[in-house]
Amino acid sequence: MTDSKVVLITGAAKRIGACIATTFHSKGYRVLIHANKSIEEGTKITEELNQAREKSAAFIQADFNELNKIEGFSENALDYFGRIDALVNNASTFYPTPIKHLKQSDWEKLFNSNVRAAFFLCQALEDELSSRSGSIINIVDAHVGKTLRDHSIYSMAKSALNSMTKSLALELGNSIKVNGVSPGAILWPPNLEEDNSEATEKIKKELLAKIPLQRLGKPEDIANMVYFLAESGNYISGQVIKVDGGRSLV
Ligand SMILES: NC(=O)c1ccc[n+]([C@@H]2O[C@H](COP(=O)([O-])OP(=O)(O)OC[C@H]3O[C@@H](n4cnc5c(N)ncnc54)[C@H](OP(=O)(O)O)[C@@H]3O)[C@@H](O)[C@H]2O)c1
Repeated sequence: MTDSKVVLITGAAKRIGACIATTFHSKGYRVLIHANKSIEEGTKITEELNQAREKSAAFIQADFNELNKIEGFSENALDYFGRIDALVNNASTFYPTPIKHLKQSDWEKLFNSNVRAAFFLCQALEDELSSRSGSIINIVDAHVGKTLRDHSIYSMAKSALNSMTKSLALELGNSIKVNGVSPGAILWPPNLEEDNSEATEKIKKELLAKIPLQRLGKPEDIANMVYFLAESGNYISGQVIKVDGGRSLV
């Protein structure tokens, strides 16, 4: 297994990112799990994967608000296993920014985590991914192309990530496949996840009613598509695939 492929997944200590990590791992990949604040969760999942298969997972911490650290981060990531075959840009920050109240620091937080780090990681790992005929998969959002009320900065950042996917597919296409996956409603944001108040339940119910499949997706639905794009979609590049239960039709 020492020459098995390696995937780097950002924001992978929990939720969808963790599911992407375990999915790749279950198919024989070695996984580099990045997190920022969720160090405990990231360490735990890394230990579990290493118990399942020795030396098959490593944990790396980095705050993507510190741009000067991106190069060091990618060098560290490459040093762990000596190769990287796939990069999954999954890290994200998501919160409303009504125009009356937003601050410039919101712009920085939302752009840094959703697109700037992804872009500079692609740049830093281009040679390595290219030498492996590798893959970049960006996790976008099915709202791109429409938009999300009161979330202008997040929507702009994800639109930039969508556009970046196509630009880099064109620019790097001779050696790296670049694609995106756009989730619909998969997991409620952490602040709503545990909130069973009447008002929140109403919001959740109204949203579910707008999804043709009438239910939330599962993290596995996203992880399986990401894995497909990395491993099987040999002639697919520059595509951003919606995994949203049909939500974008309504
Ligand atoms: N959940 C959904 O239903 C849904 C819907 C549409 C799109 N998406 C997209 O799918 C992806 C996964 O969704 P999710 O809900 O699982 O994501 P999430 O929990 O909102 O975020 C994933 C991780 O991003 C990391 N992150 C945030 N800011 C960072 C920073 N400054 N530096 C480094 N890492 C940072 C966080 O790591 P730490 O916890 O370690 O700080 C966080 O755990 C995201 O790109 C999201 O936009 C999700």
